[in-house]
Amino acid sequence: MKFFADTAEIEDIKELAATGLLDGVTTNPSLIAKSGRDFMEVTKEICGITDGPVSAEVVALDHEGMMREAEVLRKIADNVCIKVPLTIDGLKTCKALTSDGTMVNVTLCFSANQALLAAKAGATFVSPFIGRHDDNGFDGMDLISDIRLIYDNYAFETEILAASIRHGVHVLQAAKIGADVMTAPPAVIKGLFKHVLTEKGIEGFLADWAKTGQSI
Ligand code: G3P
Repeated sequence: MKFFADTAEIEDIKELAATGLLDGVTTNPSLIAKSGRDFMEVTKEICGITDGPVSAEVVALDHEGMMREAEVLRKIADNVCIKVPLTIDGLKTCKALTSDGTMVNVTLCFSANQALLAAKAGATFVSPFIGRHDDNGFDGMDLISDIRLIYDNYAFETEILAASIRHGVHVLQAAKIGADVMTAPPAVIKGLFKHVLTEKGIEGFLADWAKTGQSI
């Protein structure tokens, strides 16, 4: 499973990249607004930290406008992945961009049929929003399972990018189902490293080691 960081915070991305476990980054207009940074500038900086795909989202709603914005965004770096919403215009744009060799992440996916359309449009990634699905009384994991089944039925190459991940259980469940990628806030990714028994174990080993008076 690939791990993407869902953030536009440079220091967090640097910290995660230093672990060697970061495969890419996703941003969206809300995350850019939260960072307080210039969109183009921060996206360029992120693209320099990771070699993996960096999703940058268009804000136009019509196909022509999306294509114009994508043209600007894809010049930022080779690893920019254009993020488009799951609408008719978004999928038209997806088809045009991927036919031209540009990576596209189709975002705001809330149904398996929408994911089927994204795959038919040649999307590189489709982003089902698990947390927001849960928030609205649906089971986000059922959505991931349905998409996995459909993509496997037809050997679609579109990668399932589990998004709107809120906690470690989401990561675990998405991994068990076989989501290709998960994108999560840095705090959630950092939380995956932790276990109270790991910390307790280290504490016990160090205390016993100190009693030996040895050093390595
Ligand atoms: O980047 C898209 C997605 O991960 C947003 O998550 O927590 O705002 O629903 P959230």
